[in-house]
Amino acid sequence: MYSHLPATLLHLLLVLPSLGPNGAVSALPSLNFSGVSIPSLWNGDRRDAGWSSLFPHAASSHGFRVKRGSSASGSSSFEYDQNGTSFLWVIQDTYEGQSFFDRFGFYSDLDPTHYVNSSTAFSSGLAYVTNDNKVIMKGDNTTWLPQGTDRSSVRVSSYAQYNTGLFILDVDRAPWGCGVWPAFWTLGGGTWPYTGEIDIVEGVHDNQHNQVTWHTGENCSLTPSANFTGTVVQTNGQDNLDCYGNSNNNAGCGITEWSRASYGPTFDAQGGGVFAMKWDDEGIAVWSFYRAAVPADVVSGQPDPSGWPEPVAALDPAGCDPITNFVNHSIVFDITFCGDWAGNSYATSGCPGTCAERLMDPSNFVNASWIINSLKVYKKQIISGRVSGAISQLSSPSLSVLLGSTLLFAGLSLLGLVL
Ligand SMILES: *[C@@H]1O[C@H](CO)[C@@H](O)[C@H](O)[C@H]1NC(C)=O
Ligand SMILES: *[C@@H]1O[C@H](CO)[C@@H](O)[C@H](O)[C@H]1NC(C)=O
Ligand SMILES: *[C@@H]1O[C@H](CO)[C@@H](O)[C@H](O)[C@H]1NC(C)=O
Ligand SMILES: *[C@@H]1O[C@H](CO)[C@@H](O)[C@H](O)[C@H]1NC(C)=O
Ligand SMILES: *[C@@H]1O[C@H](CO)[C@@H](O)[C@H](O)[C@H]1NC(C)=O
Ligand SMILES: *[C@@H]1O[C@H](CO)[C@@H](O)[C@H](O)[C@H]1NC(C)=O
Ligand SMILES: *[C@@H]1O[C@H](CO)[C@@H](O)[C@H](O)[C@H]1NC(C)=O
Ligand SMILES: *[C@@H]1O[C@H](CO)[C@@H](O)[C@H](O)[C@H]1NC(C)=O
Repeated sequence: MYSHLPATLLHLLLVLPSLGPNGAVSALPSLNFSGVSIPSLWNGDRRDAGWSSLFPHAASSHGFRVKRGSSASGSSSFEYDQNGTSFLWVIQDTYEGQSFFDRFGFYSDLDPTHYVNSSTAFSSGLAYVTNDNKVIMKGDNTTWLPQGTDRSSVRVSSYAQYNTGLFILDVDRAPWGCGVWPAFWTLGGGTWPYTGEIDIVEGVHDNQHNQVTWHTGENCSLTPSANFTGTVVQTNGQDNLDCYGNSNNNAGCGITEWSRASYGPTFDAQGGGVFAMKWDDEGIAVWSFYRAAVPADVVSGQPDPSGWPEPVAALDPAGCDPITNFVNHSIVFDITFCGDWAGNSYATSGCPGTCAERLMDPSNFVNASWIINSLKVYKKQIISGRVSGAISQLSSPSLSVLLGSTLLFAGLSLLGLVL
């Protein structure tokens, strides 16, 4: 499946410039969303407060609070903190294939979109897993609707909740199209926005640039001088650095990716790719990789973000404590139709007619599908070093993860060589 990957670096060099703002795909329509404030995906206090109480909380901790320094070797699976402590990102949860939906709940309350429950989703073919283990979630693309009727779609949320981690999503396709507003995001338990929201993949219509957004409590701001390649989202011509969820019409603080292939038609046309979100003491960073440029360590299941290029978006801990502002996060996928962002921006999007008219014809939604290969969540595992707090971690249930991990054995032998 990834047999062409040895050429990763070459691809990176060749593909990135050709898909850039001045690149070969300039014939694609360029849509203008300036002046449209982007609301939170969360809307209404009725849903998510109850959400966390419905499901068992996954055991989670943020025990591995180790700063990463520069890696001794960019190609190693280890990362090193400034005290010489080394750690690996080890697999915590794998969501893929036939068991994918066992670990997600379906959200089916009222919304501008008609989110269906699990039985309806499965019986009407809006959620299923193919024989070759691709996970599909899609909007209804077969039913004609009278104007004013909500189109059926899917929103799911992981039962497990996380407090830090490395989240890696591999998709063949992400949803797009006029009137379509999909997202892959994480949402805190408890009271929004005080436990945070991280929007990792989000966009509307035929947009081409993914937008990463944070929504938090009052003490969190985006540091524009941090290292990331994207552009800070503006409100009224000013960079909007205030992440407080209740400010600015719930816009949060966001960063738009520079690449024209990070969302929509071009992203899907070249086979999708990988989105990664790293959340730890160093802050929260997001990367996106085209299919041809997925790092080998991601493909092999031994991710080492210290060897990846600069992230597309980052929230620096200097302006926002990534631990206190983000608590008990579930992972969410959804596909909304019209709604706050796609509905309010429709008139200036270049899409035909009105969003309400657009909703009627099922053939307008043939591209409103997630096709997911896998979602993997990794956690930090200390390997060596004088980290007093790590002792309790090693004697905890994570020990079985450790012992079960071929990664560790590979890691230890490598460590032996290094030392
Ligand atoms: C985008 O829209 C805004 C507000 O509608 C307008 O002021 C601006 O000139 C537009 N930019 C382009 C490049 O069309
Ligand atoms: C799912 O939704 C359908 C259609 O609204 C309804 O008939 C059914 O009872 C629901 N099933 C469950 C388990 O709630
Ligand atoms: C997070 O989850 C833990 C474990 O279930 C719970 O004790 C804690 O109150 C939750 N925190 C918030 C802010 O909801
Ligand atoms: C950005 O990256 C450069 C080069 O790696 C580094 O020197 C600088 O400290 C980084 N800045 C921040 C804010 O992390
Ligand atoms: C606000 O955040 C900063 C930086 O994360 C932190 O140093 C400060 O203690 C926080 N203040 C409050 C009132 O939480
Ligand atoms: C769906 O995607 C195909 C391939 O990019 C494109 O030709 C078609 O116009 C799209 N349809 C809609 C309704 O967006
Ligand atoms: C609906 O969309 C799926 C892709 O999600 C496509 O395979 C199918 O052909 C579409 N159905 C119709 C009737 O357009
Ligand atoms: C590691 O170094 C950092 C400063 O770089 C320090 O704050 C931290 O306490 C050190 N941790 C240990 C376990 O020595």
